[in-house]
Amino acid sequence: MSAHPPFRVLIPHDQILRRTQELARAIHLATPGEPPLLVAVIEGARPFARLLQKFVPGNLPVQEVRASSYAGTTSTGTVTITVGADLPVQDRHVLLLEDIVDTGRTIDALQRHFRAQGAKSCRVAALLSKPSRRVVPVAIEHLGFEIPDEFVIGFGMDLDGRFRELLDVVVYEREVERAFLAATAR
Ligand code: IMP
Repeated sequence: MSAHPPFRVLIPHDQILRRTQELARAIHLATPGEPPLLVAVIEGARPFARLLQKFVPGNLPVQEVRASSYAGTTSTGTVTITVGADLPVQDRHVLLLEDIVDTGRTIDALQRHFRAQGAKSCRVAALLSKPSRRVVPVAIEHLGFEIPDEFVIGFGMDLDGRFRELLDVVVYEREVERAFLAATAR
């Protein structure tokens, strides 16, 4: 039996690879001359950022920022920057790397913050977006996939710290996990 519940695969790993490669190419073409300051929104965006970093020419370093607004499967609304608020963004073109844009609050808060800190621009590359969940409108310059309003895990995304290590993006369903746990307990 597999070590994880058989969650429904939404985006298989090979599609993530291919799409990230395309995004990297587009990012490279969109920023001639002056390379952007890559800033990954951790922890969720780490695998996406690492992959993107491999494909963007120039071996650009990836900085990290942590913003928290989440508890369980629902957003609490207020965004606090707990790591990376003091990154040296002055006169830089910042490119935020995000795993998933949901309500848009996190990206909006980070953009406001870095622009206030003197960034020349603050654009966004996100692996996933759930447009139907948007509360704050945000522009995503480089988007991997639009997905429906389902809670996803895997490829860095978690539910209370679990399932980040799954290679595919899968849909979390409590019932699937319950059935799996019941079967493995037998
Ligand atoms: P937003 O501020 O509502 O756009 O939320 C962005 C953050 O919420 C992401 O960086 C994720 O950490 C988290 N998030 C939103 N939707 C999901 C999901 O379906 N699975 C896992 N995390 C999610």
